[in-house]
Amino acid sequence: MKTAPPGIGEALTAWYDHHARILPWRSQPTPYQVWISEIMLQQTRVEAVKGYYDRWMEALPDVETLSRVSDETLMKLWEGLGYYNRARNIKEAARTIMDRFAGEIPAGYDDLLSLKGIGEYTAGAISSIAFGRARAAVDGNVLRVFSRLLAEDGDIRKTKVKKDLEREVVRVMPSERPGDYNQALMDLGATVCLPRGKPLCDRCPWEPVCQARKLGREEDFPARKEKKARRIEDRAVLIMEYGNRILLHKRPGKGLLAGLWEYPNMEGVYTVEKVEELLETQGIRDFDLISLGEGKHIFSHVEWHMTGYRVRLRRLNDRIRERLAGEKDWILVTPEELKEDYAVPSAFSMFTVI
Ligand code: ADE
Repeated sequence: MKTAPPGIGEALTAWYDHHARILPWRSQPTPYQVWISEIMLQQTRVEAVKGYYDRWMEALPDVETLSRVSDETLMKLWEGLGYYNRARNIKEAARTIMDRFAGEIPAGYDDLLSLKGIGEYTAGAISSIAFGRARAAVDGNVLRVFSRLLAEDGDIRKTKVKKDLEREVVRVMPSERPGDYNQALMDLGATVCLPRGKPLCDRCPWEPVCQARKLGREEDFPARKEKKARRIEDRAVLIMEYGNRILLHKRPGKGLLAGLWEYPNMEGVYTVEKVEELLETQGIRDFDLISLGEGKHIFSHVEWHMTGYRVRLRRLNDRIRERLAGEKDWILVTPEELKEDYAVPSAFSMFTVI
């Protein structure tokens, strides 16, 4: 692999001085602000994060408040962002920061790494952006930029290829401005060296030195390797209403969407007749059933292909009453309560009717 030419880090920060995106977590960020924004930005677009970030900072302005937040409020603040373990890990890390670091987010890279949910990327981002330390923050976007810059045709998911590219990222880092350099790389990746479609090379400060550009093969890097296909799961989703209230079920504490609220749903292909049959086996007879059509939700390893049904119960049978009375994981809520207090993952949002 070629090495990155000297001086390009300074060229990039000079570009950043004029082209940095204006983002809510950018002006003089505290370590807390950098931490929360970086976790939110993992696997999530900047535009989608902005509103969540502002709401979070309003509700949980510091580590101490965060360490005491209820799980329900935490999930509500994260509702729709996906990968909910990110939020649970943030809370656990906040508790550790209170217990072991006297409430102050540590500046040391290894201390940061010891916190739940903080890996090399996030530790690097916090160290460099909030504490001005010379650490790299290498994510998929940075790997794409450098694989093009150096025309690296190895698979960027391989540790060796990643480490080689990371070494080059660090080699040209301006020692005075590590945080700006890392953020400039993020912006270059997001606005110029685009992941899909033609990159906007005529706007790129590295165009004169980019190897992929020289070869006219910008879109060949990073080298694409076959991805494993996602598993497809058919599901039926039941929006069950009684009066103006909706039935919710709490998912188990482990696994996909752990601990979040959901509409009752089950694996399999369900026609209207099959849903009616199922409800009748549960002793539910007095209802109207309306088809809500189909929807798809893509998780990282599985796709849900869903068929939705609205079930208007004209009365509650004993079985449902018992569940509602006995178990904390079944509940009937009004639309207002659903909106304010119960986090339902966006996988289900296409079927919400009231
Ligand atoms: N993507 C990940 N971290 C980011 C940041 N700090 N600014 C913009 N985009 C990002």
